[in-house]
Amino acid sequence: MTECGIAVGLNHAGKQMVGAGRMSASDLIPLQPWATYIRPYSAGTFSRQQGTPSAAMTNPIKFIDAMEILDSRGNPTLRVTVVLVNGTIGMASVPSGASTGRFEARELRDGDISRYGGKGVRSAVRNVVEVIGPRLHGQDVSRQAEIDHLLVQLDGTPDRSRLGANAIVGVSMAVARAASAAARLPLYVHLGGSSACRLPVPMMNVINGGSHADNTLDFQEFMIVPHGAPTFAEALRYGAETFHALKAILKSRGFRTAVGDEGGFAPDLESNEAACALIIEAIRATGLKPGTDVALALDPAASAFAGDGGYELARSGGGRKTASELTKLYRSWVHAYPIVSIEDGLGDQDWEGFREHTALLGADLQIVGDDLYVTNTQFLSRGIKEHATNAALIKLNQIGTVTETIEAIAMCRDAGWNYVVSHRSGETEDTFIADFAVAMGGGQIKTGSLCRSERIAKYNRLLEIERELGSRAIYSSPFRNPMRVALHS
Ligand code: PGA
Ligand code: ZN
Repeated sequence: MTECGIAVGLNHAGKQMVGAGRMSASDLIPLQPWATYIRPYSAGTFSRQQGTPSAAMTNPIKFIDAMEILDSRGNPTLRVTVVLVNGTIGMASVPSGASTGRFEARELRDGDISRYGGKGVRSAVRNVVEVIGPRLHGQDVSRQAEIDHLLVQLDGTPDRSRLGANAIVGVSMAVARAASAAARLPLYVHLGGSSACRLPVPMMNVINGGSHADNTLDFQEFMIVPHGAPTFAEALRYGAETFHALKAILKSRGFRTAVGDEGGFAPDLESNEAACALIIEAIRATGLKPGTDVALALDPAASAFAGDGGYELARSGGGRKTASELTKLYRSWVHAYPIVSIEDGLGDQDWEGFREHTALLGADLQIVGDDLYVTNTQFLSRGIKEHATNAALIKLNQIGTVTETIEAIAMCRDAGWNYVVSHRSGETEDTFIADFAVAMGGGQIKTGSLCRSERIAKYNRLLEIERELGSRAIYSSPFRNPMRVALHS
């Protein structure tokens, strides 16, 4: 609460609320399908409205349903529905990565090549309905940690490969949603408490390369970071205007403006660095200041081009580089462009390279481990001990449950690290991570570009949350040295 108190007067969100009046949590519940919501399931009604006090205190799970749906790449994934005895439901859909870390929890795919090229998830659906559902029947839905522990035990493998990480994470997220609905709280309040009022600064992936696009760029993500905006809503405008300016520039130079998996453009540029220069031009074209208003972030996703003891920049024709050479290349970019964050600048096996990388760049740059840690406290604790990075990417489906994800975040917090809640390149219209990012209070989210509805759904949900919070909303830069990037303005 004290944090929110400080925000009053610092933040402009209150101005947007003029005329909207102050909202209470119960006003906010039935906003849109993916927000935390309560509605009767078939003929059921809510225990809180008609039940006895003791019935209102526990909310047992009646059954769990699941179905095969499609993700944003047209690949099958799961949608899970948790149904409580009192009729409340919670739903969640499961994302899927392309540049997955070596030690991520494993999705279960059917392997039946007569359906979806083997990518069907009917076996994972069956595991939810026939194995997990009966085991969780009667469990109090508000006991997330206990339920997640049961899921892990029931699977019994270190990589979640028996029941499938996709089945497990879908259930875990749907349980959180059903619990928030039963408590009549928005998901971000249910998971983060009443002090959850910090909107995340988005990292918006406006130029795609690597395994997310078929172009000449080795590096996977070139992102804009509107950290100088006064509110999340303004940050979104900065991002969208820069995105449109970038499109116009690309078009005027004869580059294609088709987009990659996360909605960023995927032009055939002459070099990786050219992407940074183009983005700076686009920021300037909108009248915004590069660095001060909108900074840059990179996710080279270097595991994808890591080879035997080196890095092959084959797509751009940039040749072979050692870890030290690649780190020095990044350093030269940091001097030339207002970069605030580099994620997976090296491969997920290259612990030694990362130590040098962070020693050289980490003093005033956010160095993020994604494939390196896979949201797993086992790898994170090593990273913290060895100063391999100074921040972590957080993906629920890399580890498999909401509770373990929160444990990974707690470890980052204890170490004084930043953490970035992230989407996957294969997404759905589910907005769980928008609420989750606010609940966790880390002040950062990575959820793609400024087009494609599976990305925009998260941004739109964050707009709703900012509006709900009104003058309590905080939007502030999480970066260590904003003055350094301001020099680029
Ligand atoms: P992925 O990419 O979802 O394909 O793993 C996202 C990232 O690397 O951050
Ligand atoms: Zn990444």
